[in-house]
Amino acid sequence: MTSQTHRRAFSRLSNIISSFNRSNRLSPIRRLSTSASSDTLPSTFKGLIVEKTRGNPPISEIRDLTPSQLPDFDVTVKVEYSTLNYKDALAITGAPGVVRSYPIVPGIDYAGTVVSDRSGTFEKGTKVILTGHGVGEKYWGGYAEFARAKPSWLVKLPESMTTKQAMSIGTAGFTAMLCINALEKQGLSPKHNFQTKVLVTGASGGVGVTAIALLASLGYRVTASSGRKWTHETLTKLGSKHIIDRFSDEKVRPIDKELWDGVVDSVGGVTLAKAISQCKTNCAVAACGLAGGTSLPTSVFPFILRGVALLGIDSVYYPNAKRDEVWSRIAAKVPWNLFESATTVRRPNELSEMANQLLSGKSEEIIGRTVVDCGAF
Ligand SMILES: NC(=O)c1ccc[n+]([C@@H]2O[C@H](COP(=O)([O-])OP(=O)(O)OC[C@H]3O[C@@H](n4cnc5c(N)ncnc54)[C@H](OP(=O)(O)O)[C@@H]3O)[C@@H](O)[C@H]2O)c1
Repeated sequence: MTSQTHRRAFSRLSNIISSFNRSNRLSPIRRLSTSASSDTLPSTFKGLIVEKTRGNPPISEIRDLTPSQLPDFDVTVKVEYSTLNYKDALAITGAPGVVRSYPIVPGIDYAGTVVSDRSGTFEKGTKVILTGHGVGEKYWGGYAEFARAKPSWLVKLPESMTTKQAMSIGTAGFTAMLCINALEKQGLSPKHNFQTKVLVTGASGGVGVTAIALLASLGYRVTASSGRKWTHETLTKLGSKHIIDRFSDEKVRPIDKELWDGVVDSVGGVTLAKAISQCKTNCAVAACGLAGGTSLPTSVFPFILRGVALLGIDSVYYPNAKRDEVWSRIAAKVPWNLFESATTVRRPNELSEMANQLLSGKSEEIIGRTVVDCGAF
């Protein structure tokens, strides 16, 4: 046989095996052996792996990976950009609570181009975004040149957005939009001349900067709470009208002076308790994070005497059917020209160092969102 005939025969055989597997629902192990060949991936590609063995500190390093190591999901994506979120920093440094099993390629979000889709949901070449669904925690994530996902986890990139812009938003920014949507569903709305006052805590973090940019562009008067003075100029550029210090270890009175029509909180702990205590009657706090702690030192008083609502936000398992709408609102409302000042693009080999800086909460380098260029392994 000529090599061309060989290739045609091999391709026909692959198709037959793939369709046989789909119709017979073969076990993941048998399907794994066929998926690599139908993807037309290179025999090796680069990725950042975190490995942890009992009694040893975690190792994170860039290695050559093979297609058969990727999870056996239908859609193979050429990853263009991923990001560094708080959870990713925990995963890279081997902190407990995020990664379910090692070894893992972290990266809880990514954007890229579909290489192949066995389910037929996405055409080859479609630009897609993935955030959440346990990727980078339970399943291999975005810190590699290629990734595989279930079709139901992916969202088509809005037409007006690039993959880099999508990841400058990433999980943190998507969550900021969910917080604002939840507050508005609860009754928050912009009034004439920026009269509706919203507090954003953890302001120079990923959730914080996106919340500020979105809120300001929607017509809210934003107060940013931030502990890092060098970021204040950027926070003002993004739309903060006032900047206050972090609420640190002060004793929190459950009911305090009424200041806020709404709050986006990504810090938790004392900060969340203080924000609740300063919420106006019948207003709400959207709580999504724990950068400052997991406790909540408050009492029932703000809830039963002021009707304050505490809205919990989870982006990971937010229904995929509703995600297009959220991404479209982000695409329309983020002031992209300003937002670039709160985004840094880094190479994958910088991730370990950046992760430690991010977790310190005191970085003099990181502000807002850190995009990872997965074309630069
Ligand atoms: N629920 C969800 O679906 C969801 C999704 C995304 C993120 N999150 C959570 O939201 C939080 C923020 O995520 P992120 O990606 O924005 O992280 P990030 O970029 O690290 O931002 C966190 C910000 O919190 C402030 N901060 C850090 N340590 C602090 C401390 N000890 N006390 C008070 N403030 C502190 C800092 O802001 P300043 O320096 O300006 O004070 C920091 O920039 C994390 O806990 C993350 O896990 C949850």
